[in-house]
Amino acid sequence: MRATLIAGNWKMNGSLQSVIQLVEGIKTGDVGTAQLAVCPPAIYLMKVGGMLEGSQVSLGAQNVCDQASGAFTGEVSGGMLKEAGCRYAIVGHSERRALYVESDELVAARFAMAIESGLIPILCIGETLQEREDGITESVVARQLDAVIDTQGAAALGNCVIAYEPVWAIGTGKVATPEQAQAVHAFIRGKIAALDTAVADKLQILYGGSMNPGNAGELLSQPDIDGGLIGGAALKAEDFLAIAQAA
Ligand code: PGA
Repeated sequence: MRATLIAGNWKMNGSLQSVIQLVEGIKTGDVGTAQLAVCPPAIYLMKVGGMLEGSQVSLGAQNVCDQASGAFTGEVSGGMLKEAGCRYAIVGHSERRALYVESDELVAARFAMAIESGLIPILCIGETLQEREDGITESVVARQLDAVIDTQGAAALGNCVIAYEPVWAIGTGKVATPEQAQAVHAFIRGKIAALDTAVADKLQILYGGSMNPGNAGELLSQPDIDGGLIGGAALKAEDFLAIAQAA
């Protein structure tokens, strides 16, 4: 039985004051039995990490550098994230892939550095609307996965979380139907099972894309959906906790 993980991706939202309020709201609410994590903007990691100490909520970063240290202006290393108290690091979010031109290869290198730093990467994969309409959803997620498998081996997926996030569902209010999401999750697990059944069986595969308290229950009841990566709805403690309770 896989545990359910509900992770909040706060993206570039909030202020010091609103972040403190949000963490207080989550900490003092009913967190239920799911595993919970929040991924604040990098500048707030130390603050949020301190506030979460002793709570059941884990800390995650929104990205991690593919290099250990040196002249990489603007980047944050895995070692620094560990020091801030991170357990997770998102890699390959579609906004990074699309807006900051992160290639499959760079995402795989960031993934490798997360593992090397003792972080659990949350590897985001997913197709655009055009790719879905062209009927190539499976080959797109397979290519994104293969970039990691080819360089790290399937065993490396034993220490990660995968988030299937159809790009057309992110921040749009257009959620994938439970059947659409389940089909891709089952494809992902099947692809990994062909290489390593033990890894595939225990792998947490999250769904991301307009998940909210109203649709979470049905999505999370699908056999291969093991949690959610939540954007917009993670910015309100009440909604985030309602999703956790639906798990
Ligand atoms: P959303 O974002 O829940 O606002 O659609 C999800 C994500 O980008 O991880």
